[in-house]
Amino acid sequence: MIRTKLCDLVGIKHPIIQAGMGPWKTEKLAIAAANAGILGIISTSGIIAEAMGMAVVGEPDRPGEGERTPYEMTKQLILRVKEATREAKGIFGINCMVSAELVQGARDIISGTLDAREEDPEVKERLRVIITSAGDPLPWAEVIKPSGAKWFHVVPSVRHAQRCERAGVDAIIASGHEAGGHTAWEPVHSMVLLPAVAKAVNTPVVGAGGFCDGASLVAALALGACGVQMGTRFIATQESDFVPLWKNRVLKSGERDTLAARGFVGPLRYLKNRASIELTELTLKKTPRLYLGEPDVALDPDIWSVESQGMANLMGDDDEKALFYGGEVAGRFEDLPTVKELVERIVKEAEEIISSLPGFIKPK
Ligand SMILES: Cc1cc2nc3c(=O)[nH]c(=O)nc-3n(C[C@H](O)[C@H](O)[C@H](O)COP(=O)(O)O)c2cc1C
Repeated sequence: MIRTKLCDLVGIKHPIIQAGMGPWKTEKLAIAAANAGILGIISTSGIIAEAMGMAVVGEPDRPGEGERTPYEMTKQLILRVKEATREAKGIFGINCMVSAELVQGARDIISGTLDAREEDPEVKERLRVIITSAGDPLPWAEVIKPSGAKWFHVVPSVRHAQRCERAGVDAIIASGHEAGGHTAWEPVHSMVLLPAVAKAVNTPVVGAGGFCDGASLVAALALGACGVQMGTRFIATQESDFVPLWKNRVLKSGERDTLAARGFVGPLRYLKNRASIELTELTLKKTPRLYLGEPDVALDPDIWSVESQGMANLMGDDDEKALFYGGEVAGRFEDLPTVKELVERIVKEAEEIISSLPGFIKPK
């Protein structure tokens, strides 16, 4: 067993967070993860996408959730995950993006989550974590902190981590540039970001971006983290909510097969294919200075048009036309295990590595 501050903070067996990942709701993944003794995270990006009438509607096998509001959808989703994790007493949470474009939806989703906790003691007991991301944490302190839920926020830099500490979060998720999905324009990867954040704050830090196995979990602990959040690795699992086209594209990608381009919520890392190359070329043409670290600008309508078409193509069968978020770590694995098999393998490998390390210290 590897037990860290993260395990104690949220009551999980292994120090691993299954990342919330849009455009789905990661319902099945969160259930499998919570039942495997790690923190299962529901992605509310799927709710926002659906509420906005985006082309990717509902889960692949749960088409269209009807006319309900994000508030109602959140509560129902939470209740379904609660039911499916009861036997194992699984611990779970939600991820909510709080960027300026999504702030109204985020308010609805977070109030749905807090109300679900207040209305049902079992939800309060097992939905322990709210992970906010892609925006400023400070305005959310007065909303989330009084609820008693543990609050984590995702950051790409030391400065953002210090702001989280001011906001009073319970843990900071430091997300390196190699991470799939939402990223920053400045290329600061986990190897530099994680120890820098861990040194700069007194709040527990979780590493995200590039983690997939026992070796990378041990590396995160060595760099000062108390656990890891993994996204891309969990796409390629039996239970994951992602369409087979996406799972297969992850499996066939190498470590050099990703690109960062402007998407709906800012910079996003995509698996490299015809669609993401087109989006990157358009980003370079329309907003080249973003890559130089200049402040972000409003979403260009042509970029949005290419992005939404790429998302709609997820329902097709051409893996060059669809847009897939994914991290560099896609190049580090080639199998499709169950979540339980994956978690057990990671922990066993990490234990073996840690046990072997003292062998490197030789008496002088
Ligand atoms: C397909 C995909 C979708 C994602 N969607 C979201 C999201 O909706 N909200 C969010 O905060 N992060 C999102 N992320 C980032 C993950 O939560 C996580 O931090 C990241 O995947 C970690 O890096 P890794 O992919 O190298 O494991 C997404 C990542 C991927 C790969």
